[in-house]
Parts: sequence; structure tokens; C-alpha cells
Amino acid sequence: MNVVVLISGGGTNLQALIDGQLDGSLKINIQSVISNKADAFGLERASQADINTDVLDHKTFDSRESFDQALIKVIDQYEPQLIILAGFMRILTPEFTRHYLGRMINIHPSLLPKYQGLHTHKRAIEAGDKEHGCSVHFVTEELDGGPTALQAVVPILANDTPEMLATRVLTQEHIIFPETVKLFSEGRLIMENNDCLLDGKALPEQGLQYRNFEK
Ligand code: GAR
Repeated sequence: MNVVVLISGGGTNLQALIDGQLDGSLKINIQSVISNKADAFGLERASQADINTDVLDHKTFDSRESFDQALIKVIDQYEPQLIILAGFMRILTPEFTRHYLGRMINIHPSLLPKYQGLHTHKRAIEAGDKEHGCSVHFVTEELDGGPTALQAVVPILANDTPEMLATRVLTQEHIIFPETVKLFSEGRLIMENNDCLLDGKALPEQGLQYRNFEK
């Protein structure tokens, strides 16, 4: 399955996908890693794995629409079956999300629908939550709002800082993100009528939920 991965930063989730491609557990071919930031460390990770990269700096465009249209052109030259947002920190236009409906997934560091947007770890701690986690969802027009495929839950411990909690969540991201890509590549996971179907059955709102998930 041909995929492209969009990033803005360090790319640890990208690395989990590269590792899966290299060890054969993911039957994917990462055609390109595309970043809106030229200094994203994820680009180094791609180069080290001999994966093509593209940089499209959003600051050189005069509108969100023109950036997204240019991004579509870059992505579509690879004819990917799946577009993977791995820490791609951009708000997407409806035209962009509609173009890839049902074939674009995103990882978000919260138990969606809780804590859409930024600073999710700090917000969960401040709210006094006992649990936090991450979600992989199909991307729709609603920001962090499309149907959730997989979720992993972690505990929030008494003296957690946002950074400690983020580290605990990130470990789970690196498990459920490749797992979602695998299920999609096997044709077992699809989006239909704003629902996620796994093996033909609609998943609940929280998706397939893992607690203390281990590989
Ligand atoms: C991850 O925690 C991901 O969930 C988050 O950005 C981080 C990227 O880390 N994404 C979002 O907040 C999207 N709204 P990485 O570059 O090391 O994969």
C-alpha cells in the first residue's frame, strides 16, 4: 500500500511507521514524508531510511486555501492509498479534508472526543482526570472530530507533569498508530457514513480501545 506521511516536528510516530515498513510488519511503501517545516527532525529520519521528502513551507503562501491546494498537488503525484498525519500541526481546509475523506488518518494525544486541539496533557491533569491517552481517527472537516478507530488509555499518576504524561502517552501512540495503518492496509478498517467499520462492524465512539496495551 502506497502511503505518504505528513509531519511538522520530531517524527517519533513517523519512526514507528518506518520501523514497521523496514521489519515487514507493515506492508506499506512510504512514498514521501512531507513537512510544512524545513527543520523538522522527522525529515532526517526519512532521509536516514532512504525515503523521499518534500518540504512545503506554509509561510510562503498567502492563504490557508492556497497552501492546502499546493499540498494536494504534492501528495497526489504519489497516488497514495492512505494519507497519514503524524504530528502535522495544521488546521486543514474543508476542501482538503473532503478530497481525502476515508483515506486520511490522524493521531491525536487525547481520548477523543475529549481535549480536541492543543495542550491536551496539561488540560487532562488540570481537570483532575484519572486517565488520558491517544486516539487515531479518520480526518473529517471537524477539527480532531472524525470517527475514532483505535484508542489507548494510560493512567494519570499523582505527581505527573504534562511532560511525564506526554511520554507515557507517546509510547502508546507508537503502538496504536502502526496497528491502525496495518488494519487499514489489510482492508479490515474502513470509514463509512462517518463511522469506523472493523471487519464490517461499526466500532463504538471510542473506537477499539486498548488499556495497558502491549505489543
Ligand atoms: C504526537 O504526540 C501527536 O499525537 C501530536 O503531535 C505529536 C507529534 O510527535 N499530534 C497532535 O497534537 C495533532 N493535533 P512526533 O512528531 O514525535 O510523532
